[in-house]
This record gives sequence, C-alpha cells and structure tokens, in this order.
Amino acid sequence: MTFQKNILCIGAGYVGGPSMAMIACKCPQYQITVVDIDPKRIAAWNSDTLPIYEPGLDEIVKEVRGRNLFFSTQIEQGIQKADIIFVSVNTPTKTFGAGAGMAADLQYWERTALQIREVSQSPKIIVEKSTLPVKTALAMERILTATDNGVRFDVLSNPEFMAEGTGVRDLESPDRVLIGSRETPEGLRARDELVEIYANWVPRERIITSNIWSSELSKLVSNAFLAQRISSINAISSLCERTDADVTEVARAVGMDHRLGDKFLNASIGFGGSCFKKDILNLVYLCRQYGLDEVADYWEGVVRINDYQKERFILNMLGAMFNTLAGKRICLFGFAFKADTGDTRESPAISVSRRLVEERAELVITDPQALPNAERDLADIREGISFVEDPCEAAAGCDAIAVITEWDLYASLEFKKIYETMRKPAFIFDGRNILDHESLFRIGFNVFPIGKPPLTHF
Ligand code: NAD
Ligand code: UGA
Repeated sequence: MTFQKNILCIGAGYVGGPSMAMIACKCPQYQITVVDIDPKRIAAWNSDTLPIYEPGLDEIVKEVRGRNLFFSTQIEQGIQKADIIFVSVNTPTKTFGAGAGMAADLQYWERTALQIREVSQSPKIIVEKSTLPVKTALAMERILTATDNGVRFDVLSNPEFMAEGTGVRDLESPDRVLIGSRETPEGLRARDELVEIYANWVPRERIITSNIWSSELSKLVSNAFLAQRISSINAISSLCERTDADVTEVARAVGMDHRLGDKFLNASIGFGGSCFKKDILNLVYLCRQYGLDEVADYWEGVVRINDYQKERFILNMLGAMFNTLAGKRICLFGFAFKADTGDTRESPAISVSRRLVEERAELVITDPQALPNAERDLADIREGISFVEDPCEAAAGCDAIAVITEWDLYASLEFKKIYETMRKPAFIFDGRNILDHESLFRIGFNVFPIGKPPLTHF
C-alpha cells in the first residue's frame, strides 16, 4: 500500500509513543515511524510489554503496529523518508553550567536538529512536540538553515497537553490542539498541513492556531497555571490544619464558582511528574533572562510551596509519632507520581522516602505499577527498604501507612484486617485524602489527612 504521508517522530517516550499511536490509529492513510536512540526502548515498543503503562494504550498499539505504525532505531533512514518530523525528545532541567537547576537542557533537542539538517535531502516540516522555552523555534530554524544544503524546512510548534494516566483519552478527545507557525505563506501552508492531520479526528473548532511564540509560551503557561492551582490549595491546606477548617469543603465551595471551576483543587502531598517543576523553573529562568525578576519570583513560589508541602508531610508524621521515626516501620501506599501510571519521575514518593530514611525509619513500598521504577529511584539507599506488591502484605507489621498515590484500589482495601496486622498505635497519613477517615478512626487508626483536623485516640 502507498501511504499519503510519511510521518516520523524522534523520541519514543511517554509523549512520542502514545501520540503517534493515536495518529496511526485515526489515520490509516499515513505511515508513522517512531525512532529513538535507545534500542531497549524501541525493542519494548515492539514487544508485548510496552515501555510505559498507560490505560488503553496496549490495545491501540496492538491494532496499528506493523500496519501503519513502526518503531525503529534507524533514525537517519527515517529522517530521509519523512515529510513531517515530530521532535519529541526529552528536555529536562539543566544540571550543569549556566542556568543549572532552572533552564531547559536543550542538548538532546539540538542534536536532533543537527541530525535532521545533515541527512535531509527533501523538504520537511519540523514539528516541536517537546516542551521548549519560548523562541526555541528560532534557534531550530537557524540550525536547520545554517548550511546552504538547498533543503526547505518549515518549523511549527505543536505542544502536547496530554496527562499521564489519561493519555489515551486526552489524545483521542483533546480540549484543544495548538499549532503555532510563522505567519509567512510557507509557514501558513505548513500549519494547514498539520491541521489536516489532526482534523482526521479532532473537531475543527478545537484545533487552534497562533503565532509560533505564543504557542511555545502557552505550553509553559498551561503547566504553570495547573501547578499553581495545586500549590494554591496546598497552601490553604496548611492553614486548614491550624484552624479546623476542612480543605475539601473549602475546595468545593471555591470550585463551585464557575469562573474558577472545580478541577485541580485536590489538596495533596504535592505535585510530581516530569514536567510541572521543570516547566515552571524554565519559565522562571526565562523571566529572569528578560529582567522580569518580580514575575520570576511569583512563579518560583509555586515550586517553593510544593517543596514545603512535601516537607510538611514528613514533619506532621514526625510530630504525630512522638517526634521519632527511628526504627519505625512505615508503609508507603503508592510510589507513582499519580494514579494509573508507572511513572515515578519527580514523584513526591522519592523525596518522602529519602526523608524517612534520613529519620532512620524502615520503609515498605507498595505500588501496582511503579515498583521497578521505585527500586531504581532508591537504588542508592535500598538497604532497609522492602518492595512488596500486595498492599495488605506490605502494611503488616508496620507502625504507619502513608498514602502517596491516589490509586483507586487503596480506598477499597479491608482496613480492619490490615489494622489487626499492624503495630499499635497504628497511624494513617492520607497524603491524597482518598480514604474514609471516620471509618478508619472507628477501626482504631490515628488518622492524619491533608488539610483536615486529625482523628486521634489520644
Ligand atoms: P521521555 O524521556 O519519556 O522520552 C524522550 C525520548 O527521546 C527518550 O526515549 C530518549 O531516548 C529519546 N531521545 C533523546 N535524544 C534523542 C535523539 N537525539 N534521537 C532520538 N531519540 C532521542 O520524555 P517524554 O515524557 O516523552 O517527554 C518528551 C517531551 O514532551 C518533553 O519536552 C516533555 O516536557 C514533553 N511533554 C511530556 C508529557 C508527559 O506526559 N510525559 C506531556 C506533555 C509534554
Ligand atoms: C501535566 C498536565 O496535566 C498536562 O496537561 C501536561 O501535558 C503534562 O503535565 C506535561 O506537560 O507533562 P501530568 O503531569 O501527566 O500532566 O499529570 P497531572 O494530572 O497534571 O498531575 C500532575 C501532578 O499533580 C500529580 O502528581 C498529581 O497527583 C498532582 N495533582 C493533580 C494534585 O496534587 N492535585 C490535583 O488536584 C491534581
């Protein structure tokens, strides 16, 4: 069969894999190849055990793999054949040199740009799918046109807004697809070509276009606003704990104002994930570069409150358990940064585990999907930590349970039985407010939710 278009995606990660699987599924007329420098990752995409856990993804990949979706390590060949190239490589926070700890590390992205330039022999549309600092497209254009090889490149920005755990649903029915382009005839033509791809399944009114810089910036701002809401409610949770107000009741009252809405107001142990912190710090760095220190300080506060929330959780545990955790056995319910994913990048579980080990507690960690990543994340402090798949087994013999991830399964456990197997007094610290606190208290637990008065027997 001849395909209408050859699409390539460079970077077979959490974004590249699922987003290309969705295009392949909705557009059988296009051939889509996803390439990566990591042969293990590509082998996993070609196997029965995909490299990432995402509800509904297995089914889609099985349907389209080998039909019009291919995973490969042959990057150069892929570039040569492609009409459209999505760049979906990682853009982590820089760990060295100028901007260390703040700016985006663009080395992976730059290497990709150089490689595209070196091997391309026909015109291509290059689509930034990775999250990048505003004005990166300009750098991309400069790199691509730095040698006069006669090949035309049009750069577009098409940031991805999917969230992990709901990735398939988000990709299938996105709130919006954003495409930023240069406002030249060529830029607009390239933009229209990308619009046509999404229009195969996304209603036209949800495909929005803008100038390229607005598009790049909108992605950073979307993540900053989402994270800001969480830090706002988490900041209020600390005040609730001091005043006997209940953060769930406050969030409900505030969220019923339709101007605000009720989403992203769940107080928690703090946000995690590979992007919120990195993207806000990137925004902060950009603001400072442009001399906007007040604006930078404002956004930095979102990350500061998040760190404070995680530390507060530990200090609350310490205070509740008679100011010593040394030798106490603490069971972490969940290690993933959120439910329905095995991803643990920047999970609050990592810093909580490290702090608890610092306090000389013994840890038992359970999670339905994230244990392999948890073992890797804690490899340097692994001694004294057990990893147990079954939550009831994990909690047996422990002094406390700390709920870190909001997996549904934790709310339906038989806590009466769990209580009987635990050391007394038994504690529950519900970092996600997902459990029935009254009933746990009646069973005998001392219960410490987030942003609500604790229920204790002493
Ligand atoms: P990831 O680390 O899971 O995947 C990136 C992949 O790119 C890796 O497999 C890596 O080996 C590969 N890679 C790096 N350099 C390469 C090169 N030169 N050639 C070929 N492959 C290369 O990252 P991710 O979570 O998929 O995120 C990718 C981008 O998308 C980031 O900018 C991120 O901010 C953004 N984003 C992520 C999410 C998410 O849910 N994870 C959502 C929206 C946007
Ligand atoms: C987030 C955004 O929601 C996506 O739109 C964006 O594309 C993505 O980042 C990205 O750029 O990587 P993700 O991090 O996968 O998606 O998951 P979220 O659902 O946003 O959750 C992030 C963190 O916030 C999790 O730790 C979650 O538990 C926490 N959270 C979320 C709360 O603590 N309270 C809430 O009310 C909501």
